Amino acid sequence: MKKRALITGITGQDGAYLAKFLLEKGYEVYGTYRRLSSPNFWRLQYLDIFEKVNLIPADLVDTGSIVEAVKISEPDEIYHLAAQSFVGASFEQPIGTGEVTGLGVTRVLEAIRQIDPGIKFYQASTSELYGRGHSSSLNENSPFRPASPYAAAKLYGYWLTRQYREAYGIFACNGILFNHESPLRGLEFVTRKISNAVAKIALGIEKELRLGNLEAKRDWGYAPDYVESMWLMLQQKEPDDYVIGTNESHSVKEFAERAFDIVGLDWQEYVKVDKRFLRPLDVNFLQGDYSKAKAKLGWKPKVKFDKLVKIMVNEDLNRWERWLNGERFPWDAPNYPSEAKIITRVLRV
Ligand code: NAP
Ligand code: GDD
Repeated sequence: MKKRALITGITGQDGAYLAKFLLEKGYEVYGTYRRLSSPNFWRLQYLDIFEKVNLIPADLVDTGSIVEAVKISEPDEIYHLAAQSFVGASFEQPIGTGEVTGLGVTRVLEAIRQIDPGIKFYQASTSELYGRGHSSSLNENSPFRPASPYAAAKLYGYWLTRQYREAYGIFACNGILFNHESPLRGLEFVTRKISNAVAKIALGIEKELRLGNLEAKRDWGYAPDYVESMWLMLQQKEPDDYVIGTNESHSVKEFAERAFDIVGLDWQEYVKVDKRFLRPLDVNFLQGDYSKAKAKLGWKPKVKFDKLVKIMVNEDLNRWERWLNGERFPWDAPNYPSEAKIITRVLRV
C-alpha cells in the first residue's frame, strides 16, 4: 500500500518541493492550505504537481481544522512546515507569530497524540534558534540564544517536539535547517529579493535595489536538497534532531556582488542601504555543521553558494524575459508590490 504523508504549509517553498519529492517516492500526498481571498497555489502549479496532491483546508490557529486534516489524511508521516516564517514580520506581529509558529506545533502534536501516536512527525526547526553571538560552525549541541519573536516561537516548537518524543514515545524529529533558497523562495527573503531585482535591473525594468544589513552572514543552501533530509529523518530507526546546512557562510553583500556579476553589472552602482530594512535585532552569523546528518542520514548538500546564486538569478531572468515577451505563467513577482509601498513600524522609528 502507498505511504501517506500530510504536509502542513504545502503552498510554501519547502512544502511544494517536499510534495514533489514524496510524489516521486510513490507517496499519496496531502497538504493543508489556508483559505485566502486570492488563491496561492502558484508553486504547486510551477512544479506541475497541483493535480497530483490532495488539498485540505486548515489553519494553525484553528485546532479543529488541524484535527480534521489528520483524520482525513490518515497519514503515516506528518511534515509540519506551516509557520509565519519571515523573521522581519515577527517583529511586526509578535503575538500572531507566537500563535502560529509556536502554539501551532502543539496543535499538530496534540492531534497526533489523540488520534494516532504512531504517526511520525517532522518539525521545521531552524538555525534562527542559535541567534546572536556565534562566530563558528554550529551543531546539535551549540547553545540557543533566539533573537526574534520568530526564533523564540520556534524554540518553543523545538522543545515541544522533544517533549512529545520523550513523554509519549512519538517518533518526532527536529530538522534544524539553515537557510535554504530557490527560485520558489518568497520575494521578501533577501536572496530572492536580490535575484529578482538583479534580473529586473539587467532588463531595464528597475533601477536600484534597497537592502538593510549587508554584513549579515548566512549559510545558504538549496531547498530541493534540504527537503530530502526531512524525509531521511523520518526513515531512521530512532527519532532524533539534526542540523542541515552547507558549513559555509557568506554575507548579504557577497550574495549581491555575485548576483550582479552574473549579469555583468557592478553591485555598488545599484545597491543602496535603506534603514527601513534593518531589524530591531539581527543575527550576524550562522553556519551549520552537518556532520551528524552526513554520518547518520548519509545526507550532504549538492548545491553550494555559487551555483545557488546562478540558479536563482538565471531563473528570475528567464521569467522576466518571458514576461516581457507577453507570456503569463504561475509566478509570484508581477503580483508583488514594490516594498516601498509597505509601511511597517520600522518606518516610524
Ligand atoms: P514559506 O514559504 O513561508 O511557507 C510557509 C507555509 O506556511 C505556507 O504554506 C503558508 O501558507 C503556511 N502558513 C502560514 N501561516 C499559516 C497558518 N496560520 N495556518 C496554516 N498555514 C500557514 O516557508 P518555507 O521557506 O517553505 O519554510 C517552511 C518551514 O521551514 C517554516 O516553518 C519555516 O519557518 C521553516 N524554516 C525555513 C527555512 C528556510 O530557510 N526556508 C529554514 C529553517 C526553517 P500561505 O501560502 O497561505 O501563506
Ligand atoms: N529580508 C531581508 N530584506 N533581509 C535583509 C535585507 C532585506 O532587504 N537586507 C539585509 N537583510 C539581512 C537580514 O537582516 C538577515 O540578517 C539576512 O539578510 C537574511 O534575511 P532573510 O532572507 O529574511 O532570512 P532570515 O535568515 O532572517 O530567515 C530565514 O532563514 C531562517 C533560517 O536561518 C527564514 O527562512 C526563516 O524562516 C528561517 O528559519
